[in-house]
Amino acid sequence: MTKKRFETSVIHEGYHAKEMLGSISTPLFQTSTYEFQSAKHGENCFLGEENGYIYTRLGNPTVQVLERRIAELEGAESGLAFSSGMGAISAVLIALTKANDHVLCSSGLYGCSFSLLMMMKEKYNIDVDFLDFTSKEEIRNQIKAETTCIYIETPINPTMKLIDLKLVAEVAQEYNIPVVVDNTFSSPYLQRPIELGCDIVVHSATKYLNGHGDVIAGLAAGKQEMMNKIAATTQKDFGAVLAPFNAWLLLRGLKTLPLRMDRHSDNAEKIVERLQNYEKITNVYYPKLDRGTIYKKQMKRGGGVISFEVKGDKHKTQSFLDYLQFIKVAVSLGDAETLIEQPATMTHAVIPEDERLKMGITDNLIRLSVGLESWEDIWEDLEQALEKI
Ligand SMILES: Cc1ncc(COP(=O)(O)O)c(C=O)c1O
Repeated sequence: MTKKRFETSVIHEGYHAKEMLGSISTPLFQTSTYEFQSAKHGENCFLGEENGYIYTRLGNPTVQVLERRIAELEGAESGLAFSSGMGAISAVLIALTKANDHVLCSSGLYGCSFSLLMMMKEKYNIDVDFLDFTSKEEIRNQIKAETTCIYIETPINPTMKLIDLKLVAEVAQEYNIPVVVDNTFSSPYLQRPIELGCDIVVHSATKYLNGHGDVIAGLAAGKQEMMNKIAATTQKDFGAVLAPFNAWLLLRGLKTLPLRMDRHSDNAEKIVERLQNYEKITNVYYPKLDRGTIYKKQMKRGGGVISFEVKGDKHKTQSFLDYLQFIKVAVSLGDAETLIEQPATMTHAVIPEDERLKMGITDNLIRLSVGLESWEDIWEDLEQALEKI
């Protein structure tokens, strides 16, 4: 197939129906192991001298369609699928580091990514520094001889701060340090870090990529050589591989990604306007409100996540959540349903309070994942709950 546009690749890339009895839907290979053609064929498969499936932890045809598809969508050479976003993130970070190395991170991370890095620090003496990445000088000053990886979220969960990926990639290339970007909040439809010079993209595919709230999954994409190394080490031996059925569900969910991301963005823009003019709300954070140039340079649209601060303390914020009627108080994001949570007590509760406050995660900060419902209904539910506090 000649190179197609995103909206076509998201439906077709990596799958040829005529090779699969004409089945338009990707077949589900729900098997753990595979029969070899002969004992010699088995030996050659293990030696890497002949092609063939061996065992689903080492490769599965349904999962491989998904791996090819994410690679194409991210503009990468190769993709890998994992049983969760954290499975992907830990496989990548551990493959890129060794004891006594140094990792530079965005000054804000998903709670479990933060605790993974703290565990690596404790167990392997891997030093971690958090940075805003605002200028080349600032980045150069923080790079050490031991720096083997730069790890970034943008927009940062949950503060929605943006990091200039091209700027970071340019400095990292001077030192030959790989840049890993968690692209969960944007999806490749809204932001493509590899095209901006970054090296590896990771995803909690649980979120927008699947989009239907029924799968936990992770993906990584990058250069062939690096992905081969991860596949042969931290993916194969830690073994957090994606189940074929979950890959199948993801392939199905992924087909509507562009439609969903536009609708999430349309709805979120309407809600942002109203939140900004509501007197019980102090601050609203959304990529499109970025006063600098980063949003325009690297994002197509703002996506579905908005953060805002409610006037009041932790308990007043919790009572606002309790007054909601159809909006679900739940972690996760990117589902058809609107989901709302309090990061300080939920997704980012594992981060010590002083670190959390430095990241901008106050007790009255709310993270809203705007769903695909009518935006008017979403706003009416938020408004009636805000009126009661
Ligand atoms: C930005 C981000 N990265 C990674 C993860 C972890 O993904 P998973 O829950 O699929 O392991 C999450 C989960 O909330 C997330 O929000």
